[in-house]
Amino acid sequence: MLYFQIVIMAGTIMLAYYFEYTDTFNVHVQGFFCYDNAYTKPYLGPEELSAIPPAILYTVVAGVPALVISATESVFFLLQYVSEDVDNREKITVMGDCCYLNPLVRRTFRFLGVYAFGLFATDIFVNAGQVVTGNLAPHFLTVCKPNYTALGCQQAALFISQQGACTGNEEDVLRARKSFPSKEAALSVYAALYVSMYITCSVKAKGTRLAKPVLSLGLMCLALLAGINRVVEYRNHWSDVIAGFIVGGAIATFMVVGVLQKFKGKPLLSEIPHEGSITDTPAISRTELESPGEKYAATQNPITFAEVT
Ligand SMILES: *[C@@H]1O[C@H](CO)[C@@H](O)[C@H](O)[C@H]1NC(C)=O
Repeated sequence: MLYFQIVIMAGTIMLAYYFEYTDTFNVHVQGFFCYDNAYTKPYLGPEELSAIPPAILYTVVAGVPALVISATESVFFLLQYVSEDVDNREKITVMGDCCYLNPLVRRTFRFLGVYAFGLFATDIFVNAGQVVTGNLAPHFLTVCKPNYTALGCQQAALFISQQGACTGNEEDVLRARKSFPSKEAALSVYAALYVSMYITCSVKAKGTRLAKPVLSLGLMCLALLAGINRVVEYRNHWSDVIAGFIVGGAIATFMVVGVLQKFKGKPLLSEIPHEGSITDTPAISRTELESPGEKYAATQNPITFAEVT
């Protein structure tokens, strides 16, 4: 099961890599009307000069959820460790020789793994949408710099569909052809929604009843700002940003409700299985299992079932 997950994850990362860093997938070349107002907005320079540059956006989107999840789970881990009596603690140490992983550590890896998978999935969906539609950014004609005289644009409403109508910087033109849906909007909503749902569903501590919605609302506002900034800087249309919000929101919802649902609606600490279920297995059946793989399965399965039920 783990190998299967690793293969899927590796495939997802590779696909995301091909979309991001290679030109394996050709962008659909969409035509335009001469002097079309929708695409003649000013060009405010490369993405790095944006108010929310990609380096910062990607760092926040990848780093903040990882930090929040790790920190929250660490607190849970410490709480569990402190609240456990000495007998239970010894059992954990006994099982901790080779293959045993504390359920809370496994939980943390699962939350982080599902998050990372969804992040790459969002990236792939958005890139695929951009490449297939080839929708033009609001500043497209500004960077395209078509030679209107050569194209014969004196007549009104002439539609230019031929390739090579642009004379501007090729890289900028290619970027301006990838607009729908907005990647920045999708990634930031995905991150904000996933973290919000994670906190809402897993933190049951007293006194967080107000803090949780406030935090969730704050995160969603930040994501909204990241999307609005795209429109303000003429890098995306409203439709791109809204489509990005929908893609990111849908994938986050699916990841939490569809993939992580095992944890839904349960108070956290009751989820931790009783270690007794492992040590109670008869000594004979345990000695019969010779291979480490079987031993691993024997020690892991009770935990897995206890978590799923
Ligand atoms: C545009 O095309 C016309 C006719 O082909 C040519 O004379 C003119 O120099 C071109 N302008 C630019 C800016 O390339």
